[in-house]
Amino acid sequence: MKPIKIQLNENDIPRQWYNLAADLPTPMLPPLGPDGNPISPDMLAPVFPMNLIEQEVSSKRWIDIPEEILDILYRWRPSPLRRAVYLERYLDTPARIYYKDESVSPPGSHKPNTAVAQAWYNKQFGIKKLTTETGAGQWGSALAFACNIIGLECKVYMVRISFDQKPFRKMMMSTWGANCVASPSTETNAGRKILEEMPDTPGSLGMAISEAVEEAVTDPSGTTRYSLGSVLNHVLLHQTIIGLEAKKQLKIAEEKLPDVIIGCAGGGSNFAGLSFPFVSDKINGADIKIVPVEPTACPTMTRAPFAYDFGDTACMTPLLAMHTLGHAFVPPPIHAGGLRYHGMAPLVCRGIVEGLLEPRAYHQLQSYKAAITWAKTEGFIPAPETSQALAAVIEEAKKAKEEGKEKVILFNYSGHGLMDLVGYDAYLSGKLTDYELPEEELQKYTKDLENLPKAEMRKSGKW
Ligand SMILES: Cc1ncc(COP(=O)(O)O)c(C=O)c1O
Repeated sequence: MKPIKIQLNENDIPRQWYNLAADLPTPMLPPLGPDGNPISPDMLAPVFPMNLIEQEVSSKRWIDIPEEILDILYRWRPSPLRRAVYLERYLDTPARIYYKDESVSPPGSHKPNTAVAQAWYNKQFGIKKLTTETGAGQWGSALAFACNIIGLECKVYMVRISFDQKPFRKMMMSTWGANCVASPSTETNAGRKILEEMPDTPGSLGMAISEAVEEAVTDPSGTTRYSLGSVLNHVLLHQTIIGLEAKKQLKIAEEKLPDVIIGCAGGGSNFAGLSFPFVSDKINGADIKIVPVEPTACPTMTRAPFAYDFGDTACMTPLLAMHTLGHAFVPPPIHAGGLRYHGMAPLVCRGIVEGLLEPRAYHQLQSYKAAITWAKTEGFIPAPETSQALAAVIEEAKKAKEEGKEKVILFNYSGHGLMDLVGYDAYLSGKLTDYELPEEELQKYTKDLENLPKAEMRKSGKW
């Protein structure tokens, strides 16, 4: 039998991150300030440390990973590349399905790949405390884990609905010494204002970001900064270690480049981390179908316009050119809490506009059905976010069977679902329903975009 767990050892870990911005066929649109003009890096300084801002704006293709960061990542990296032979047999597909298992990290997802890097760069810059938002709680627990190891204080604003649905994530954060509060909270001006207008709101990532940014920029000591778990260029950069490892592991498995690459996308970081090193091959002529997956309840990539918008509800962040459902969008309380963000990483959006990426949306019930199939064949219980990717994987494997083609499918197993069993319980007891964002809702939330600067549709026309 061919190996189904392809391991690298510590010496094989990639020593540089890959920056897709260096290879894009058309350049990124710059972030804009409130006056509609491009912002300069120093305008971000109250929010992020300068060493991370440098990465955010960098156009260097390769960026060295400091040894001290690698030394922390060795706890679980390189992560295994596994082959899903049990699912393949069940589906009776000629496809070979490989997955990067990011669930093996201490918090259980891909998120600490950037949490560790961000905490390390902040510490180097003399920062003492990080604030952040979290949806499902994966990001908050990853930052709590990283801050504990690196020696920073950590404050997490957790979206209300997840705070209530996922109490164990909060306990994980407390175990690593972080302070986690439900958002909107009464601790910030942004939170109090939202609560006055919408006392029963389930919260949103946009609201929680407003609160975390406010706390960072109003600290009179100047030693607090904000940390974002997805969306921004430097976050996606840190995640490319996933795809770079996968490339080495596929070679060991004697595979050529994959035919299909799949990842779920909330803000875009795990998808980008796996796929960007392969997008580079696609730019250079390789034939790879690269699919970011989202829920029909929050159809940012598949239905929302490409426009300049704020990253948060209170309009405190710069304007980013991205697919967006509007910064005031309050997503329905689906269980894939990490996929409920109104925007999408500008780098992923450039890939979509160029035609390099082919986004898809799936219903919640199909994703849970895929998760149960996975749990009953492969054995592991996936995070609800990961299950969205699984719906696409199963669809592609069935298609390979219909076509009689031996395709190689690679996807990112972004996290385990052992803290998300309330969602499984709701599904198994028939309490979950599908939800497709109605067109009137989409129109309502994207109306505000008309008053913001327009984003040019740059496209090389090659794909
Ligand atoms: C397990 C898991 N997968 C995926 C995501 C989506 O985030 P991103 O698109 O940044 O990878 C999250 C976000 O919380 C998550 O927890």
